[in-house]
Amino acid sequence: METAIVAGVGAERGLGAQLCLRFASLGLHVLVAGRTQEKLSKIVGMIEAAGGSAEAVCVDVTSEEQVQTLFANTPGTLSLAIYNAGNNTPGAIADMEASYFEASWRVACFGGFLFAREAAKRMTEQGKGTILFTGASASTRGKANFGAFTAAKAGLRQMAQALAKECGPQGVHVGHVIVDGAINGERVATRYPDYAARLEAEGLNLEGIVDAYEYLYGQPSKAWTFELDLRTSTENW
Ligand SMILES: NC(=O)c1ccc[n+]([C@@H]2O[C@H](COP(=O)([O-])OP(=O)(O)OC[C@H]3O[C@@H](n4cnc5c(N)ncnc54)[C@H](OP(=O)(O)O)[C@@H]3O)[C@@H](O)[C@H]2O)c1
Repeated sequence: METAIVAGVGAERGLGAQLCLRFASLGLHVLVAGRTQEKLSKIVGMIEAAGGSAEAVCVDVTSEEQVQTLFANTPGTLSLAIYNAGNNTPGAIADMEASYFEASWRVACFGGFLFAREAAKRMTEQGKGTILFTGASASTRGKANFGAFTAAKAGLRQMAQALAKECGPQGVHVGHVIVDGAINGERVATRYPDYAARLEAEGLNLEGIVDAYEYLYGQPSKAWTFELDLRTSTENW
């Protein structure tokens, strides 16, 4: 059995869920991992209805013990592990509570380390596998009012690059996908209703983003990409 773990899954029209649906359609048994059981069960139901194989795993990615249990209970050969958890945490640094900064870092960066460590141990033992991380515009640039988020996402990116260099020679491909702009999905539409109407024209297309993960997953070891950055044709970058 070839297995994939996707950590950070929620709404059906979210990147995590769409990654689960795609890789299940390619024949992988998918562990649909996130923190809200109801949302996870819905995605598993959709995969099974389409003839795929999946299981829901309720996990807080910031808990070392829970992440270790997630991997310990993962059956088969772990072919793919995707760390997608991340919350956009806006706020000016001068006004920011220390706990807010830390909580942002725990989800977007520290959890990525916990996940990466378990995936790397398992995959280097196997001598193969792919570990992918979801980045954002914040991964490569600081922006006013996003100090916490950008610190966390940039940390995740650099950790991923170090991991790529450590694991590559042992047959494990590590990649990072920068989603540079708002996704035309559920999170932005519900959190920022004023922007929702513009998303269709200005938001990144979920299918296109998922294609990028599939491309990285399918690369041969003599032509590996570490990073892809994705944006709409109209994004101001
Ligand atoms: N949405 C955008 O416009 C956008 C733009 C650029 C980059 N990104 C990045 O893309 C990724 C996915 O974004 P998305 O908006 O499409 O969301 P998504 O994939 O639908 O959901 C991400 C999920 O992560 C889960 N999560 C958060 N904290 C967690 C924790 N401690 N333990 C376990 N799961 C946790 C959330 O669960 P709950 O649903 O239960 O809260 C959420 O459903 C994120 O890394 C984000 O930074 C998003």
